[in-house]
Amino acid sequence: MGAMRHRTRISGSDARRPPTARSVLGLFTAGTAAALALAAVGGYVALRSVALDEAKRDTRTKVQEAGKLVESALAEGILTGDPDAIGAVDDLVLTRVLSGSVVRVKLWSADGRVLYSDDPAQIGGRFTLGDDQRRLLREGGAEVEVSSLDRPENALDRQQGELIEAYTPIRTPSGTPVLFELYERFDSVTASARRLLAALAPPILGAIALILIIQVPLVWSLGRRLQRGHEEREALLSGAVAASNRERRRIASYLHDGPVQDIAGVAYALAPLAENAAVQGDASEAEELRGAIDQLRHNVRDLRTLLVDLHPPNLAVEGLEAALADLVGPLEARGVSVSLTVDDADRLLDFAQQALVYRAAQEAVRNVIAYADASSVRVELVFDNGVARLVVADDGRGFGPETRAERAAEGHLGLSLLAELAQQSGARLDVYSRPGEGTRVELEAPLR
Ligand SMILES: Nc1ncnc2c1ncn2[C@@H]1O[C@H](COP(=O)(O)OP(=O)(O)OP(=O)(O)O)[C@@H](O)[C@H]1O
Ligand SMILES: [Mg+2]
Repeated sequence: MGAMRHRTRISGSDARRPPTARSVLGLFTAGTAAALALAAVGGYVALRSVALDEAKRDTRTKVQEAGKLVESALAEGILTGDPDAIGAVDDLVLTRVLSGSVVRVKLWSADGRVLYSDDPAQIGGRFTLGDDQRRLLREGGAEVEVSSLDRPENALDRQQGELIEAYTPIRTPSGTPVLFELYERFDSVTASARRLLAALAPPILGAIALILIIQVPLVWSLGRRLQRGHEEREALLSGAVAASNRERRRIASYLHDGPVQDIAGVAYALAPLAENAAVQGDASEAEELRGAIDQLRHNVRDLRTLLVDLHPPNLAVEGLEAALADLVGPLEARGVSVSLTVDDADRLLDFAQQALVYRAAQEAVRNVIAYADASSVRVELVFDNGVARLVVADDGRGFGPETRAERAAEGHLGLSLLAELAQQSGARLDVYSRPGEGTRVELEAPLR
């Protein structure tokens, strides 16, 4: 004990059964839908970034042009808060710079003072300029970025939603650099990404629809073919099983009516001859005849055992319990201790299931005789929760999965065929074994 039990399992619900045409189609459709969703989200993100780059380029041009314009109206007094100077800039900004998308314009001094804003409340405010802005003032050029609205200088612009902000330095008439700043609404970027996507959607969706129209029937017919192939295989197998049963029955009935009767008859006819020889004192002939009779009777016994093997006893008449008892007879004859328990509800199984239980027990017992070298065997048929369970357990040498695989490769498929048969009847066969620890074969059949 202690070690985990290895388990060789052949179950009724394994991967042998192919998916149905419907589930193949479902999977295909779900996959397509997922790919479509991914393409839509990815496309939106990609297009938005393209649109953002575009918008940044536009804004850069815009800030430089507007900067030049404002520079032309700039008076020296702007540096000292002269209302006239502010008014001149304000006129220009209100009439020519502010527009639908440009929502804010500011002028900054190099030391971070707001010299002008189209919102008068902001004028005179003071913030520390960032490295970028200071560099712009020194080196010129233009800078565009997406506003981080939580920066203190943007406190008053927060209600605008996301913004793009752009800077460029301009100069007062005396040459003092001031920073011109412009805020543009960002939602135009999102809107233009959506527009692009909307323009691209019809051809893409059309192409996908076309692919679906072509592939759905293809997938459906592939699924159907797979299913039909499987059904055919099952029909073939059960046909083969039925044919082999018929053949066994034919051979069994031939043996039963022909050779078995004949040999039994010959043995019967020889008996008086042996008696006679004994009476007449011909001891050696009597001995010889008795030997022959024994031999013949022995053969008849062997043939009858073979008959049971070839053609299962008539379960309907004899009942499963009696048939199972016959089955374990040879084990007992070999000196193996056998415990047989059959729940008397065995009549609850329909005939096909009784035959299945019998065949499973037969294969398991044959294996015990052939390989297990067991000293005791337990055969049990119990019912619980609407399930009939047959157990054949021995304490013999057991085996590992590789033994099974090797034997199967050589065409010895006893357990595998049985598992397949069980599966077809809606039952399940499990084989638990491990070298040195015996073998347990379990068949579970739900009552119908
Ligand atoms: N009770 C058992 N004890 C020990 N080994 C077993 C037992 N049952 C099966 N085996 C091993 O598993 C192998 C596979 O068994 P299976 O019944 O599938 O095929 P087989 O008996 O070899 O051939 P077939 O049943 O087709 O005549 C056997 O060859 C044997 O090595
Ligand atoms: Mg076998």
